[in-house]
Parts: sequence; structure tokens; C-alpha cells
Amino acid sequence: MKKILVTGGAGYIGSHTVVALKEAGFTPIIVDNFSNSKDTALEGIRSILGADVKCYHTDCADKVAFREVFEAETDLAGVIHFAAYKAVGESVEKPLAYFQNNVGSLLVLLELMQEFKVNNLVFSSSCTVYGVPDQLPVTEQTPTKAASSPYGRTKQMCEDILRDLSQAPGNEVKSILLRYFNPIGAHPSGKIGELPLGVPNNLVPFVTQTAAGWRDQLTVYGVDYDTPDGSCIRDYIYVGDLARAHVVAVQRQLDGKAETVEVFNVGTGHGNSVLEVVKAFEKVTGQPLRYRTGPRRVGDVPAIYADATKGANVLGFRTEVGLEEALATAWRWQQNLGAKPE
Ligand code: NAD
Ligand code: WQD
Repeated sequence: MKKILVTGGAGYIGSHTVVALKEAGFTPIIVDNFSNSKDTALEGIRSILGADVKCYHTDCADKVAFREVFEAETDLAGVIHFAAYKAVGESVEKPLAYFQNNVGSLLVLLELMQEFKVNNLVFSSSCTVYGVPDQLPVTEQTPTKAASSPYGRTKQMCEDILRDLSQAPGNEVKSILLRYFNPIGAHPSGKIGELPLGVPNNLVPFVTQTAAGWRDQLTVYGVDYDTPDGSCIRDYIYVGDLARAHVVAVQRQLDGKAETVEVFNVGTGHGNSVLEVVKAFEKVTGQPLRYRTGPRRVGDVPAIYADATKGANVLGFRTEVGLEEALATAWRWQQNLGAKPE
């Protein structure tokens, strides 16, 4: 059973990927500092799998501590690096913390991978690197644009670091950069899912918390965009599908098929508007959702969705779960959360 180190494996996408890896026959090993996750995620993972998964409570930006993990876990076949801060607004308030954590942890990780001769990396990138694209859908060749936040800039910098490393003489680290579009939903069991701390910034957690009575109403940020119904368009990908994309990427590297550095969009290939998401959610719950329309949110991209052709052709990866089914899993997860935390 090949061992895969999963940094940020207790987080939203990481926890689903840990489950997918284990189900595919890998041995995932989690490294997480729990800055944005809770032990309950580990309980959920173990309950779904009916098996234990090893977890190190370690900060990936702390080289001394992280080296101990590499010393203990010999024969790692690869690493998936999810660990990062991800709140766009917070990154504007605390840019240094974002550069330190997101860029700093990647640098430490790469140095340790070189030292311990672990040569396969799958990295969490984001469609945010495309900024406001000139053409839709975006392909992997679509030029990246000036990022609209320090968070976005950390992802661009990490991508640059991995491209520069791939050119360095003697480098043996191969990396696959997965540019996620908008992950939504939860494991069908309702045992793991997205756990935003405080008021959610992202659409789907806000929607489910509103339906659950945790929030008074959703504000749809802008209905005056140049889109069919005036609200913004995004490519919402089911988190279980996204998790599977990581397993496929890891397998490609272990099969020796990967180039030194490769980039893939991971989306469904089609966009839905905010109002379409609201309607789909109402259909799933059979109840109207309390919402109002409000002004645009600063920094929002009017419309973006993936051209998913490269992932389909090269990785053989296709999404399987549609918007309504994904929203149903998000709703089940929300209902399992019970009362609003104080
Ligand atoms: P998340 O916050 O749920 O998961 C990240 C995990 O990493 C958390 O468990 C956190 O505790 C941990 N972590 C953070 N810094 C760490 C450090 N220095 N050392 C160890 N652990 C650390 O976020 P997520 O939504 O699962 O996102 C995972 C990755 O995907 C991130 O890199 C994020 O930027 C990227 N991404 C997310 C989205 C999205 O919409 N969720 C979209 C595109 C890209
Ligand atoms: C989706 C749509 C909002 C909340 C962010 C990051 C991006 C990536 C994914 C990591 C937008 C609208 C939202 C609300 C709303 N993360 N909305 N009312 O903005 O596409 O992307 O997460 O890499 O970098 O920027 O996702 O879920 O915040 O918003 O109307 O209360 O929902 O305006 O059109 P976004 P989101």
C-alpha cells in the first residue's frame, strides 16, 4: 500500500481526499496544524472508512517539526499539499500571514521532499490565478492575470516556484498543479464536510446555514452583471469528484506518466449563476430560501468556468455528481451539524 502524505488532510477538501485515497488502496498520512479544522474531521474520516488514519498535529511551515514527520514516515510515494490559509478577505487584512503560511509551507515542504527524496507532489491551486478572464471557458493556456488578493497571489507564487524548480538542474521533484474551481457539497454519509468558522464567505455554506436558521437571509451579491440572469457565474464542482481528481493525479505520477510540471483545471466544464444555485437548492429542500439581492461584492469575477478537456483527455477525469445532488449532500451535512455554535 503506497503511502501518500496529505498536508491539510483534516480540512474540507483534504478530508474527502483522504477517504478517496484510502478507498483506492493508498495509505494516506495526514499532517495538519488544525488552524482551520477540528478533530471531529478525523472522527468522521475514521467512521466512514471503519479504519484508523494516522495524523500528525504538525505545522508544515515549521521545518524542524515537519522534518520529524519525514524521518518517521520513510518510503513516502508522494505528497498532496492542501495546507494553506484560504480566506480571500482575511488575506487582505493579514497579507504577511498568508505569504508566510502558504508560500512558506510550500518552500519547507519542497526542501524536505528533496532531502528525503520524495519526488511526487500534487499541489492545490485555484481558478483565482486566472483573475478576470478575457475568454470563457478558461483553458490551462488562458493567461493568468494580476491576482485580486494576497491569497490569489500566494497561489500564483506557489505555481511559479514549482515551475522554476522544474527547470533547476538535477531537480527530481515532479508536480501536478490542480486549479480547482468552486468545490461544494459533502460526503454522502454527512460525516465530513465544510466547516467554516464564523460567518461563511462562500455561497453554499451561507445558503445551507440560512436554510438551517443560523443566518437570517442570503444576500445575492449583484444581479446587474452581464450574465443571462444578472448574477455571477461559477463552476461548482462536487467535493467528492474533486477528491477523486487527486487520486487520479497521484496514480499518474506513480505510473511514471507525469511530466516534470503539469497543470490541470478541475471543474465540471459548465457554469451556474448564483440564482440558479439558489433555485437548485430550493428544489432539493422543497422550501423557499430567504434571500435578497444586494450590491456587488468587491473583487468578484463576473463569470468563470473551466474548460475541463485536458483533465478528461490526459487524466481520464470526469465529474460525476451534478449541482442538485451536490447541494443535497451539503444540506445533509448542515443538518447533521445541529444547533448553531455559540
Ligand atoms: P481548509 O481550510 O478546510 O483546509 C486546509 C487545512 O490545512 C486545514 O485543516 C488547516 O488546519 C490546515 N493548515 C493550514 N495551514 C497549515 C500549516 N501551516 N500546517 C499544517 N496544516 C495547515 O481548506 P480547503 O477548502 O480544504 O482548501 C484546501 C486547499 O485547496 C487550500 O490550499 C486552498 O487554498 C485550496 N483551494 C480551496 C478552494 C475552496 O474553495 N475551498 C478553491 C481553490 C483552492
Ligand atoms: C460564489 C458566488 C459571490 C456569498 C472564492 C475564492 C476563490 C476560490 C473559491 C480558493 C460569487 C456569490 C457568495 C454570498 C453571494 N477559493 N455569493 N452571496 O468568490 O467564486 O471564490 O472561493 O481558491 O479564490 O475567491 O466563491 O463561494 O465566495 O462565491 O451572492 O453570501 O456566490 O458573489 O458570485 P468565489 P464564493
